[in-house]
Amino acid sequence: MDYEVKPAEGRLGILIPGLGAVATTFIAGVEAVKKDLAKPVGSLTQMGRIRLGKRTENRHPLIKDFVPLAELSDIVFGGWDVYSDNVFEAAVNARVLEPMLLHAVKPELERIVPMQAVFDKAYARNLVGTNVKEGADKMELAEMLMEDIRNFKEINNCDRLVMVWCGSTEIYIEHAEVHETLAAFEEGLRQSDPRIAPSMIYAYAALKMGVPFANGAPNLTVDIPAMVELAKENGIAISGKDFKTGQTLMKTILAPGLHARALGVKGWFSSNILGNRDGLVLDAPENFKTKEVSKLSVLDEIFKPESNPELYGDMYHKVRINYYPPHGDNKESWDNIDIFGWLGYQMQIKINFLCRDSILAAPLVLDLALFTDLAQRAGMSGIQEWLSFYYKSPQTAEGLAPEHDIFKQLMKLQNTLRHLMGEDLITHLGLDYYQDLVDTL
Ligand SMILES: NC(=O)c1ccc[n+]([C@@H]2O[C@H](COP(=O)([O-])OP(=O)(O)OC[C@H]3O[C@@H](n4cnc5c(N)ncnc54)[C@H](O)[C@@H]3O)[C@@H](O)[C@H]2O)c1
Repeated sequence: MDYEVKPAEGRLGILIPGLGAVATTFIAGVEAVKKDLAKPVGSLTQMGRIRLGKRTENRHPLIKDFVPLAELSDIVFGGWDVYSDNVFEAAVNARVLEPMLLHAVKPELERIVPMQAVFDKAYARNLVGTNVKEGADKMELAEMLMEDIRNFKEINNCDRLVMVWCGSTEIYIEHAEVHETLAAFEEGLRQSDPRIAPSMIYAYAALKMGVPFANGAPNLTVDIPAMVELAKENGIAISGKDFKTGQTLMKTILAPGLHARALGVKGWFSSNILGNRDGLVLDAPENFKTKEVSKLSVLDEIFKPESNPELYGDMYHKVRINYYPPHGDNKESWDNIDIFGWLGYQMQIKINFLCRDSILAAPLVLDLALFTDLAQRAGMSGIQEWLSFYYKSPQTAEGLAPEHDIFKQLMKLQNTLRHLMGEDLITHLGLDYYQDLVDTL
């Protein structure tokens, strides 16, 4: 299939449900980068390069010079939150970025005031906020969100919009009948079905308005057949779920290496402490469960114990998250990995990652917003599996196992960009560099 990518003309509105630590670190960061006060480190769209053609051609352009992405100066931000603090106040409260940096972008941040949220404490009981919409049923709430989207687009003179969910992790919800078809889902909205979480109401409103959606939390949100149906029907790009940062990022970097060398793994114990609002929400067991399922899925897919029982059949994998306020957004994680090598001899690997949660997540929000907008302009609709690179628990077509290995995910992302721009895909075969050898085979 040939793609014709429309140019990134005009203004791009990035709409964010949940203006907490991640979203404010992202927005303040983009404003700081625009003023040349800091660099967008960690963002592939801003700092990453891509190889084109043969190694001998030496072509490695910046990704942003290769594919037509929106310029940072063309971005406008908006969002919703259950707290009414503007983005400057919320960023100060999140205590991720230094006051000096925040003050340098204060006017830009103060201007962004959250719209009233669609929220229900039943889905995140540790939150108390009053900036919340009231409606007769969930369908009415969805219509109110659509009105917000329409107004935002008009007031800010936007040509295109994308939505990136940066709201809290909701309680664990399983696939149910109400999620199966669009008709059942819409009936569920009218009946205010409890299995329709607030994040699904935002996603529904976005897709109805032609706005592509990326999900940074482990909630089901767009990962249900009803949303896939709506996305296909309206020709809209969707992806999810759960930003891949911190411990899971390390896991999907390290595990493919152990697997590649056929080293065995007996156990992988992962523990975290964090003290931000995300940690507070995850302190409720029903919210932690959503995160746990997302974090646990990673290793099985990489090691495939069923096809490698001698190496991974007995692997014990455990993940704990503990709320510890003194650390704020500076999450600390420990991994104890029991591995074994030649003749079954045991070894251990210990990882102690002192990370900054929102510093790792902010560039992912930017990349997801820009790549999702690119996909939409290229006419790619439905699930964008090539964005798996950014997620702990990538959304895939029904029955298709997700790819968790970060290096395969990167190859998929880069080949998608090459494909979109009509460049040769890179298979890394490389035999043609040794043509003499090939001729003799
Ligand atoms: N920081 C990371 O490394 C990382 C990694 C993966 C996933 N995430 C996920 O990203 C999300 C944001 O993380 P954070 O650290 O910014 O959390 P946060 O608690 O600082 O921010 C979330 C915000 O969402 C708001 N919110 C909750 N429900 C809402 C609703 N229905 N409508 C509008 N606003 C709502 C909350 O009031 C809060 O301000 C969380 O779900 C988290 O699990 C973060």
